[in-house]
Amino acid sequence: MRSRFAAHLIEQDNPNPFPGIPALERRTGISIATRLGSNECLDAPMQALQDRFGMQFCELARLYGDPECHALRETLAVMNHVDLDALLVDGGADALIYLCLRAFCDPGDKVVCSAGTYPSFGYFARAVGCVIEEVAYHDDGHALQVDLQALLDAVVRTEAKVVYIANPDNPTGSWQGIGDIAEFVARLPETCTLVLDEAYIDFCEALQPAFGGTLPGCVRLRSLSKAYALAGLRVGYALAAPDILEQLHKVRIHYAVGGLAQYAAQVALDDPRTLATLTEASFIRDALTAHLSNLGFRVLPSGTNFVSLLLPSAQLAQSLVEYLLEQRISVHRPRHPALERLVRITLCAAALDEPFLSILQETSP
Ligand SMILES: Cc1ncc(COP(=O)(O)O)c(C=O)c1O
Repeated sequence: MRSRFAAHLIEQDNPNPFPGIPALERRTGISIATRLGSNECLDAPMQALQDRFGMQFCELARLYGDPECHALRETLAVMNHVDLDALLVDGGADALIYLCLRAFCDPGDKVVCSAGTYPSFGYFARAVGCVIEEVAYHDDGHALQVDLQALLDAVVRTEAKVVYIANPDNPTGSWQGIGDIAEFVARLPETCTLVLDEAYIDFCEALQPAFGGTLPGCVRLRSLSKAYALAGLRVGYALAAPDILEQLHKVRIHYAVGGLAQYAAQVALDDPRTLATLTEASFIRDALTAHLSNLGFRVLPSGTNFVSLLLPSAQLAQSLVEYLLEQRISVHRPRHPALERLVRITLCAAALDEPFLSILQETSP
């Protein structure tokens, strides 16, 4: 019988061989005083690291982190109004996309996404041997929208195991209301799972009312690389029904999120000042959008920490990227042929500075 999960996973259990000391402490109620079972390098002086980063850094670096990321999950559970077993932490949203594909797909299975969406999805899908079916965005004259009906049709036609939507989307910046997403996922066949990549959700005011919770048949992915500014530490999490996460756990690298990353994530999540970035990004997004629109550029509406320009031709987009590069400024132009007219600009104070704005003024259509 066809299932939502990869065939070999339903037939076998694959328990984590190293649940870790924190799990042992939680299970037994005993606080371990002397840690002689996990072969860390306990006596290393770590002098150079201690001098530079201090003792607490060294202790976190020296020990295997909690594979269950328990403390972090407790914080995330409150934030997202879910139980602990609806949460899985891994090394960023990218690691979670790959994890989903490993859990849901066998080599040769079909997966569906928008043509030109966040390319790591296709990269990981190919890595697990999937066949990718792409669907064009819908240009409504204002935004480039993910075409939910066309995605659904492609899922049904190809009997796909996974459909991927980035919401808000990279690189178009567009987003779908959670009501439309919920309706979409309810119409999916039972053997197909929606991987809903919400790496940018914190930046999208319209999606804030739907921030927490799970959706049946869907894995919601979050990243601490964007709004929480921890891209270098690799932390992300998934929100999904426990029976789905149970299968994801069978293919997860148990120590993927180090103790240092878990601790830093906890500090960032606990501090209300962290999210000041969001107000700043929103201000820059509005200012840059207004400025570039006045110059005659088509600026796509964005629910993210970037704005994208849609230029009249691929050649103009490439010339702009090259010209900026000569001035030692990098912007992003997607490689996908469907989006080669697009140029993506990250929102930060430098995006409102000269010489960036004057170069755009010179090159405006
Ligand atoms: C849509 C999307 N998902 C995931 C990621 C990667 O997130 P992380 O750093 O958490 O792996 C990015 C980064 O650009 C992204 O644009």
